[in-house]
Amino acid sequence: MAQILITSGPTRQYIDPVRYMTNGSSGRMGASLAAATIAAGHDVTIISGPVQVDYPIEARVIPVVTTEEMLAACEQEFPNCDGLIGVAAPCDYRPKRVEGHKIAKTGEPITLHLIETPDVVATMGAQKKSDQWVVGFALETEDARFRALVKLEKKNCDLIVLNGPEAMNAAENQVEILDRAGTSVALLAGRKEEVAAGIMAAIASKLMK
Ligand code: C5P
Repeated sequence: MAQILITSGPTRQYIDPVRYMTNGSSGRMGASLAAATIAAGHDVTIISGPVQVDYPIEARVIPVVTTEEMLAACEQEFPNCDGLIGVAAPCDYRPKRVEGHKIAKTGEPITLHLIETPDVVATMGAQKKSDQWVVGFALETEDARFRALVKLEKKNCDLIVLNGPEAMNAAENQVEILDRAGTSVALLAGRKEEVAAGIMAAIASKLMK
């Protein structure tokens, strides 16, 4: 039995006390992967941004809000895990300055200065030990395979799951799993529950002893 960490859902980056930036990630792929992982007999910890989805009751869920909190939770949990599946869609940017009060409307345009947040999967990829594995996701709209392989390399992943923008907030998904050699390990399509079972099978055969 392996100890598997899953990041899931979106994160939020606040602009002022009431407004934030986020994305349309539902956490459904994360929930489906958690269910597939549990069905395969493993222990799962999910680090999740704010979502409506129900995670399996057998999973330990650590709720977070921001990308920095997701990273901090991963840094705490990953050393005790065999592998990480990074299916979350963390917010990539945060405002350089977070206003302490609600920004009042003036009728004039305002400018937000955004800076990049840390990449959770890349940070864990850089920290992983020789007996640990990291699986990343890549959502691409063009040059999909090439860009996914660049990400796999850059984030030091062992496998990358490539999907398109139609994956966002949908019940179904179509993915291709690529390994470090650039080989297509699996092509999967269907309901996210079925796709998740296929991803778990690929992880088991390629990365787990
Ligand atoms: O670069 P991109 O956002 O497409 O990379 C997708 C992969 O990187 C996913 O596995 C996602 O969970 C992860 N990621 C991350 N932290 C970020 C951005 C993406 O862990 N700030």
